[in-house]
Amino acid sequence: MLNPEVSKLLNEQVNKEFYSAYLYMDMANYYADQSLDGFENWFFVQMQEERDHALLFRKYLLNNGEQVTLTEIAGPEGGYKDFKEPLTQALEHEQFVTASINSIYEAAYRNKDFRTMQFLDWFIKEQGEEEKNAEDNIKKFELFAGDPKGLYMLDNELKSRVYAAPSLVLD
Ligand code: FEO
Repeated sequence: MLNPEVSKLLNEQVNKEFYSAYLYMDMANYYADQSLDGFENWFFVQMQEERDHALLFRKYLLNNGEQVTLTEIAGPEGGYKDFKEPLTQALEHEQFVTASINSIYEAAYRNKDFRTMQFLDWFIKEQGEEEKNAEDNIKKFELFAGDPKGLYMLDNELKSRVYAAPSLVLD
C-alpha cells in the first residue's frame, strides 16, 4: 500500500504519460502529412517512449497493491502553424511533465515514501534528457532548417532515431 496522496498522483501520471504519447503521435502524423519522414520517425519513437512511461507507472502501482484507474485522455489541439511549432510545444510539454514528476517526488518525500522516491529517480533523470532532446531539436531547426536543403538534411538526421526499451524494468 502507498500513501493515498502519492497513489493518486501516480495514477494521474499514468494518464499524463498516455496523453504525452497521444500528443507525440499527433505530431508524428502532422510531419508524415508534410512528407517529413525523419521528423515523423523522431516523434513516433518519442510516442513509444511515453507509452512505456505510462506502463511503468501502471506496473509500479500494481506492484504496490494499488488500483490503476484509467481516465479519459484529452485530444491534442493540433493545427500546427509551421514545422517548428511542434518542436516548441514538445519542449513546453516536457517542462510540464518535469514539474508533474517533481510534484510526485515532493509528495513522496513529505510522506517519507522512500520506495516511490527511488522509483522516481529514474524519471527525474529521464526528464533531464527529454528536455535536452527537445531543446536540441529547436536549436538544430533554427540553425539548419532555414532553407529546403538544410531542412532535408535535418530530416535525414532525425530518421536515424531508433526505439529502445526503457532501461528501467519492473518485474
Ligand atoms: Fe514521459 Fe516525455 O516524459
